[in-house]
Amino acid sequence: MNWRIERLRADQIDGFHSLLSEVVAERVFLATLTPPPIDRFRDSISRSIGTGGVFVGAHVGAEMVGCCEIQRFTAESRKHSGGLAMAVAKAWRRRGLGAALMTEALTLAFAEGLERIDLQVRDDNLAARRLYEKFGFQVEGLSRGALKVDGVAVNLLGMGLLCDEFRRHSSSDAVAR
Ligand SMILES: CC(C)(COP(=O)(O)OP(=O)(O)OC[C@H]1O[C@@H](n2cnc3c(N)ncnc32)[C@H](O)[C@@H]1OP(=O)(O)O)[C@@H](O)C(=O)NCCC(=O)NCCS
Repeated sequence: MNWRIERLRADQIDGFHSLLSEVVAERVFLATLTPPPIDRFRDSISRSIGTGGVFVGAHVGAEMVGCCEIQRFTAESRKHSGGLAMAVAKAWRRRGLGAALMTEALTLAFAEGLERIDLQVRDDNLAARRLYEKFGFQVEGLSRGALKVDGVAVNLLGMGLLCDEFRRHSSSDAVAR
């Protein structure tokens, strides 16, 4: 495919914000319903990049068309784990980009010492759930009615992946590369 996947640079954070804003505006995938103010977003992403976060972006030309971030938790008891979030621009979905971003981000995160990745996903987001399951994530909990979007209650699933599980899945070729 004609995208480039690389670690996010500081000068690409605004493109990341644009992509996130597009996906937030769809209102059916993410818990966030309003894009964060750009200044706050620049500060928080720059800080996370500097404290062991893994941010990978897919670009076509200068446009960011997909991203996957794994933010390392900062509390002493949770520093071995990180939280994952990702998005692919609508026009680029179902071409293997989500899987390519996950492969890159998870490989980097586990190589850099993370032992566990957490995420939360809406239980009606079947595309994302299938993708996560494909990489070995397991459902670990259900938060009933955790979100309310336009007056409708939405459940959130908690999913987790341990380093050993990822390695097993990768070596068994369960994951598309
Ligand atoms: C979830 C998302 C990142 C998947 O990205 P993508 O580039 O479309 O995914 P891929 O093409 O790499 O697909 C990889 C696997 O994901 C699953 N998948 C992706 N889209 C799917 C869909 N519409 N229905 C069912 N399974 C789907 C499949 O298992 C697929 O493997 P396959 O092609 O062998 O069947 C993308 O749909 C997206 O950005 N959605 C909006 C934002 C979002 O939901 N983020 C996650 C919030 S928790």
